[in-house]
Amino acid sequence: MDIKQIGVVGMGLMGSGIVESCARAGFEVIGREVNDELLERGMNSLKASMERGVKKGKLTQADMDAALARVKGATSLADFTSCDLVIEAAVENMALKKTIFTELDVITRPEAILASNTSSLSITEIASATGRPDKVVGLHFFNPVPVMPLLEVVSGLLTSQETLDMARWMGERLNKQVIYAKDTPGFIVNLLLVPYLFDAVRALENGVASKEDIDTGIKLGLSHPMGPFALMDFVGLDTCLFIGDAMYQEFKDARYAAPPLLRRMVTAGLLGRKSGRGFYSY
Ligand code: 3HC
Repeated sequence: MDIKQIGVVGMGLMGSGIVESCARAGFEVIGREVNDELLERGMNSLKASMERGVKKGKLTQADMDAALARVKGATSLADFTSCDLVIEAAVENMALKKTIFTELDVITRPEAILASNTSSLSITEIASATGRPDKVVGLHFFNPVPVMPLLEVVSGLLTSQETLDMARWMGERLNKQVIYAKDTPGFIVNLLLVPYLFDAVRALENGVASKEDIDTGIKLGLSHPMGPFALMDFVGLDTCLFIGDAMYQEFKDARYAAPPLLRRMVTAGLLGRKSGRGFYSY
């Protein structure tokens, strides 16, 4: 595979983690945000994450410095002209993603691969905004990206075998286990995760137990690193709601219908860790 330079669209929670993982694997990376303030925030969280890694003995200070030297920031997609692969990690909005992919299709070389980190939107639909649907693929990472060892590769209806081979190669270079999913809402992991998280909220709404006891039950009874409420706060309640709504819209199955409490919390701005308060306070 001849992938040397990678562009990442969006330097939020997922985007900055993807930039970190790619830079640590030796790729030249350009991370793009819409303005200087968000770019600086993304770069700061990238550095903070690597510093945590150094403190925990996962990488040396020299590795961190070398990785940071491979990262460039940008506020325009025009900087992606020489990228061999672009991974989009913008907000989960189909219209926005299509606009980005249409622009990337014009800006990048015709042989470049265009990937989306979407957690729930259709890769086939995103690919329809380009003239190269065979080179469009889902690369779904998990939060925190540098720590979670999984890469879910999502194949659109027109994704080529060559593109899927590149996705496997990337997963191996990034030290992630690759799994393949078809382009169905929620792919593999969120298909199972969302009903579980929503059932936890429904249990709380129905007064089955306190959120603390539900979390403790799952942590200690099933050996999960986090219970469902801590996990929703970690992922972001707005993201959980968005994924659920996207799945419900396609399946019309009550398992994916967001519980009213979750929707009310998002409306109130209780988004989890990122807003300082969700099911718990931070
Ligand atoms: N690079 C490499 N390793 C790092 C690192 C970095 N930048 N930062 C931290 N680490 C390592 C630490 O060294 C530690 O490793 P160790 O266990 O070998 O000591 C490990 O990562 C955990 O880090 P911390 O000690 O800082 O934190 P915790 O032990 O409290 O664990 C957690 C935090 C990893 C978030 C853990 O609670 C967890 O795994 N939670 C579940 C996360 C999860 O389920 N994520 C998926 C969400 S769903 C999703 O993303 C899909 C989307 O579409 C919604």
